[in-house]
Amino acid sequence: MTSAAWSLQCSACVYTVAGDRLASVCPDCGQPLSVKLAAASRDQVTAEATMWRYAAAMPILANEHRVSIGEGMTPLTELPELAKAAGVARLWIKDEGLNPTASFKARGLCMAITRAKALGLPGVCVPTAGNAGIALSAYAAAAGMPARIYAPKTTPPPILGSIRAYGAELELVDGHIGDAGKATMQFAKESGYFNVATVREPYRVEGMKTMGYEIAEAFAWKTLPDAIVYPTGGGEGTIGIWKAFKEMVEWGWLPKDIALPKMVVAQAAGCAPLVRAFAASEEKATPWENPATHASGLRVPGPFGDRWTLRTLRESNGAAFSVDEDTMRASTFTLASSSGIDAAPEGGCGLAVAGILVKAGVVKATAHIVVFNTGSGASYRW
Ligand SMILES: Cc1ncc(COP(=O)(O)O)c(C=O)c1O
Ligand SMILES: [Zn+2]
Repeated sequence: MTSAAWSLQCSACVYTVAGDRLASVCPDCGQPLSVKLAAASRDQVTAEATMWRYAAAMPILANEHRVSIGEGMTPLTELPELAKAAGVARLWIKDEGLNPTASFKARGLCMAITRAKALGLPGVCVPTAGNAGIALSAYAAAAGMPARIYAPKTTPPPILGSIRAYGAELELVDGHIGDAGKATMQFAKESGYFNVATVREPYRVEGMKTMGYEIAEAFAWKTLPDAIVYPTGGGEGTIGIWKAFKEMVEWGWLPKDIALPKMVVAQAAGCAPLVRAFAASEEKATPWENPATHASGLRVPGPFGDRWTLRTLRESNGAAFSVDEDTMRASTFTLASSSGIDAAPEGGCGLAVAGILVKAGVVKATAHIVVFNTGSGASYRW
């Protein structure tokens, strides 16, 4: 490969590099890199029942191998009772718990490992709140690559068991994902393994954005929901979905004058750095002291993708809210018991935030809302 069909552009400054080489963050300003693709046509979408139906809009060449185990194309289920309870006209749950490895993290790590394999990297490592670790373990296993995972000791045991079952090396860390991040960086330096941490690696977002493509296709490429509620920790889900909508408008997949959704961040009151920063109109988040929540995926006190996520919220005219643990627990139970969806606490957090939106003036009572259940309740039961 002499030149790639895409480039990597800094999300914060003017730095650009061709996409055919190993890259992490921007060498000039240290912020995340974003993939810039040549325009693709909607006619290139295939009938494949995975996220790879959008391969034309993803950083992969026609002759390259996809490290795939069936990720994406998750159900989008309309739930009128939940819409009524939330005070909106229509509400859908996008159930990411049905992905391989039981969370949306499968999409991003699938894309990252596909690129890591194409580059011939010797091994991969990641700090995780849990679900990214399972996803990396599984995709590394599928690619035949060694993987090292750094996770907080407090990570739910079913998640740690899954990481071990896929054959990855697991290191437990005192503290939170930020502490795991430091250990991962140190290990990467010593071992030569590539660190695929959230938005320190440019391709995870490209897998995540397929959630946005799936929503656009489910809405027949004509309309979009008024708001998308995303349980947010590191920010890559939120960033990816918004990137998808912008690409689709730019490439003519969606009408130029389409109303884009407001992106809404849902966080736990015990760890809400993005909610706090957005409310104060800050460009970056101050790390949250003593982060604590049962929703381990949301226990990210100092997200590296804070600026990009906050910019996404501003660009989409979005919002950010947190809910307390009791509200989250009740909402998780409501979601599971009223729909049969295996609600993760993160999904419960999203549903609780959906119920705030009309009162907060973010959307009208006529709104159509998509809420993400980002993981599986089974991962949290032990
Ligand atoms: C189930 C679940 N939901 C939400 C998140 C937060 O996602 P993001 O880091 O993309 O903001 C995570 C992250 O680990 C997660 O595991
Ligand atoms: Zn830069």
